Formats: sequence, structure tokens, C-alpha cells
Amino acid sequence: MAHYTLTTTNLTRRFGRLTAVDALDLAVPKGAVYGFLGPNGAGKTTTIRMLLGLIRPTAGEVTLFDQPLRRNRVRLLGRLGALVEGPSLYPQLTGRENLEVTRRMTGATRAQRDRALHIVRLEDDADRLVKTYSLGMRQRLAVALALLGEPELLVLDEPTNGLDPAGIREIRELICTLPQELGITVFLSSHLLAEIEQMATHIGIIQRGKLVFQGTLDALHAQTEEHVVLGVDQVEQARRVLIEAGWHIHSNGGRRLAVAANGQSDAALINAQLVRAGVNVYNLTLQQPTLEDIFLSVTVRPNREAKQTRCG
Ligand SMILES: Nc1ncnc2c1ncn2[C@@H]1O[C@H](COP(=O)(O)OP(=O)(O)OP(=O)(O)O)[C@@H](O)[C@H]1O
Ligand SMILES: [Mg+2]
Repeated sequence: MAHYTLTTTNLTRRFGRLTAVDALDLAVPKGAVYGFLGPNGAGKTTTIRMLLGLIRPTAGEVTLFDQPLRRNRVRLLGRLGALVEGPSLYPQLTGRENLEVTRRMTGATRAQRDRALHIVRLEDDADRLVKTYSLGMRQRLAVALALLGEPELLVLDEPTNGLDPAGIREIRELICTLPQELGITVFLSSHLLAEIEQMATHIGIIQRGKLVFQGTLDALHAQTEEHVVLGVDQVEQARRVLIEAGWHIHSNGGRRLAVAANGQSDAALINAQLVRAGVNVYNLTLQQPTLEDIFLSVTVRPNREAKQTRCG
């Protein structure tokens, strides 16, 4: 049986008439980098606030390290590090001094402080004032704050928000090392699939408070169909041949046809059938759907109702 660091059962939060988080059953395996994806307003931060005991669920339950959060708050939260909605750092202090402030409040050791600086690779810049740090460095320092107590689970709300590509890469590299080198399970949210796909082992997709997909990154890929995209000289003839042979045509734009297919053998078969029918195939590619395609297909655009709430 898989071991889960974090699970939720029927986790729900309402704000007045709005159900911001709707009956979520999350399962975060130990050692995973779990990417919690959803568009703006989907309910990511609200979920994270409940995971951290910052707000109470309207219904449902959070289980951390196999124990209900409700009954063991202080002890369980002590095993978790978090960064929610941007770091609050002292610009007039150095990186190390910023950590020192929290260290004294939490009772962490100096060794733990320097270890956190080491993990986020800020050792060389630790004695510079934070106001001279780049955004990426500030974000790494914020992660160091979250790592100070040597947590088993790190929860990060949109850790790459506002960073440039280099900053995003730094955070990504840092996050990827945490499970492997330190045995830390990571739960992170994002509204950008392309970012998450490069670090996550597991994915949960939330839309308007509801979980619309949960599973491994591989399962997400596998769930979606491949396409053979064909360039042919006689499009109408090719269509007829393929439909007669039982293929499902997804689209035809101009002289190209997209056919639902399953792997290279299908691609070869389609090619052979067309050539036999006298259609010249001058181009054939087997395409995996990108994660952006998947994201768009599972998170349909908000309907009128949602627009009204947002525009008042
Ligand atoms: N304290 C609150 N009172 C009323 N409504 C709230 C409150 N907090 C959040 N909401 C609403 O709940 C919904 C989910 O918000 P939430 O901040 O969890 O989304 P999110 O996925 O984190 O979005 P973003 O990507 O913009 O950070 C939104 O419609 C938001 O307006
Ligand atoms: Mg948010």
C-alpha cells in the first residue's frame, strides 16, 4: 500500500454562497513532488490555507503523516514547512540575519540555519543585505525559512510566481533536489502547467473548487490520445478512405488531417492504407498532446456564472 504524507477527505470551504473548495480528496504520496494546478481563483490558496491549519474547513478533514490535523495541530504542523503568498523578508537585514530572526523564534539551531542556507545555495550571499538580492534569491531565502525546522513536508503556494526564467529554473532545480537528497515531500501550487510538468511526479488539477484530475504525470499523459497528423495530396479521398477503415478524424485544416491513433503501428497502418488507395502522403507525424492541451481540455473556460461573480 502506498504511503501518503498528506491526504484530504471531502475537504470543503465555503465563503458565504461561494464554494471555494469543493469536496477535495487529495492524496500526496511520500517522496512526491505534487503539483497542484489550477487557473486563478480555482481554490488553490484556500486549500493550502486549510492544509496549514490557517483556516478551518467548512467540512471534511486533513490528514498529515497519517494523523488528523484537527486533533494534533501543533505537533503535526511542526513537521511541515510552508511558503504562502510571497515571503515577508527584512530588506535591511542580511540573508543570514533574516533566518536568524526566525531561528530565535522557533528554537532552531545555528547548524539548521546554515544548513538551510546551504540547501538553497545562498551561502555565498548570506551576508549581503536582502535589499540587494534578486527576486529569485529572495524566493530561495523564503524557501530557506520554510526549511529551517527540517520539515518532512514542504508546502509552497506558487513559488515561481513573478520570477524570470532564470529564477524559475533556480527554484525548479532546488525543488527537484528536495525529495531525492533530503527525503522531503513537496506540495506546490501553480497556474502554469509548463512549469509544473518539469518538476512534478504527481499532479492534481483543480477547477472552480473541484478536483478534475489526480494521478501521476505519466497517467496524465497516458489518459490523453495521440494523433497522427497527415499531409496528403487528396484530402477528401483520404478522409473517405480513413473513415471507411474505421479511423476517427479529429480535424482537417486545409490539406492536413488529424486522426486519433495509438502509437507507431497505427501510424504505419494509416500510411499503408492511404498509399494503397492512391493517396500520396507527403508528411506524417505522431503527436503527443502537450500538457497545455490537456489543461485546456480538463479546465474548461469559466461559464457566465463565474464571470458574474468576478466582475461583481
Ligand atoms: N476570505 C475570503 N472571503 C471570500 N471569498 C474568498 C476568500 N478567500 C478566497 N475567496 C474566493 O475563493 C475562490 C478561490 O480563491 P483562491 O485564492 O483559493 O484561488 P487560487 O486558486 O489561489 O487563485 P490564484 O491563482 O489567483 O491565487 C475565489 O473565488 C476567491 O475570490
Ligand atoms: Mg492563490
